[in-house]
Amino acid sequence: MHHMAQSQQQNYKMSKSPIRVLISGAAGQIGYALIPLVAGGQVFGLDQPVILHLLDIEPMKQVLQGVVMEVDDGAYPLVHGVVATSDYQQAFNNVQAAFLVGGFPRKAGMERKDLLEKNRPIFVDAGQALEKYADRNVKVLVVANPANTNCLVAAAHAPSIPKKNFSAMTRLDSNRAQSQVAQKLGVAPVKVKNVLVWGNHSVTQVPDVSYATFESADSKQLPVAGSVDEAWVFGTFQPTVQKRGAAVISARGLSSAMSAANAAKDHMRDWFLGTPAGEYVSMSVVSDGSAYGVGKDIVYSFPCVCKGGEYEIVKDLAVSDKIKELLKKTEQELVEERSEALPGFSGL
Ligand SMILES: NC(=O)c1ccc[n+]([C@@H]2O[C@H](COP(=O)([O-])OP(=O)(O)OC[C@H]3O[C@@H](n4cnc5c(N)ncnc54)[C@H](O)[C@@H]3O)[C@@H](O)[C@H]2O)c1
Repeated sequence: MHHMAQSQQQNYKMSKSPIRVLISGAAGQIGYALIPLVAGGQVFGLDQPVILHLLDIEPMKQVLQGVVMEVDDGAYPLVHGVVATSDYQQAFNNVQAAFLVGGFPRKAGMERKDLLEKNRPIFVDAGQALEKYADRNVKVLVVANPANTNCLVAAAHAPSIPKKNFSAMTRLDSNRAQSQVAQKLGVAPVKVKNVLVWGNHSVTQVPDVSYATFESADSKQLPVAGSVDEAWVFGTFQPTVQKRGAAVISARGLSSAMSAANAAKDHMRDWFLGTPAGEYVSMSVVSDGSAYGVGKDIVYSFPCVCKGGEYEIVKDLAVSDKIKELLKKTEQELVEERSEALPGFSGL
């Protein structure tokens, strides 16, 4: 027993000082699945203690207290403190990472426009709180829908935080896409690399296997495109990935939470700790107009590599005409969302 406890502790090298990590919507479903990943060291590493900042709205206070009790009861070696609050100053104070998961949910009969309207003030507040209280190098991941445009709204209200510190989540879409490809090829997901998702986290997103490779049973790296046909890519794969969120809702009666938290973990971990050599990840980031003809000042999912806590857009991939057309459509949707969410917008 004694020996086991000792060796378990040796996995945690707590030489670093703790970082403050905000999770908004912490009393919700994704929060419940994400907190243990952050507390357990799966996002920032087993050597990085954390102080959890858990934010939810006042009516959720009691539920949030219950979540805090469970964090306490986990006795997580890496958790050096918990701040549970509905106060934005407390929640955003000195945070170095922010998972913005809390938002107004889509209700039956709500249009995208209504969802944008309900979430705009939440992300105006989040942007202003980041501006006032957060660490200047805070890394922000927006999960709450409409994620890309919520992220743009926050960025637009935090002028002194670099635009490169804002991102929205398309990693769940690309993880779904990777898994669909793996199933089609009959290999484990880990054998498949560089499946991408471009554009908006919505049905216009563009899942893309053009640059994907997989490891065959005899350990060869092969292009995915050589093993699947176009009819499958455009007729089955893309719509399956685009509609996967809706399929989970109809099966579970609730939206994806386990897989969403898992993707948030993957996104933030890769951003903080780096991507493996030769691998791209899909991240929705502020376009500066320099890649793939996508206009500036929308939050668009691009292939990215991360190193030293920074992402770079991979800019030199050859895009087919068919994919180019789809990239335009999803860009157009983001431009429309921007004009609905930020009327009179004149640039970041
Ligand atoms: N980007 C993606 O891939 C992806 C995937 C799944 C879900 N989502 C989105 O993530 C969000 C959360 O999903 P969920 O299943 O956890 O929902 P949920 O309703 O279970 O939890 C959301 C929580 O946010 C809280 N909240 C509402 N307004 C808030 C505010 N102003 N400040 C702080 N907290 C606030 C709510 O009280 C609730 O506890 C939704 O917007 C959902 O659409 C995104």
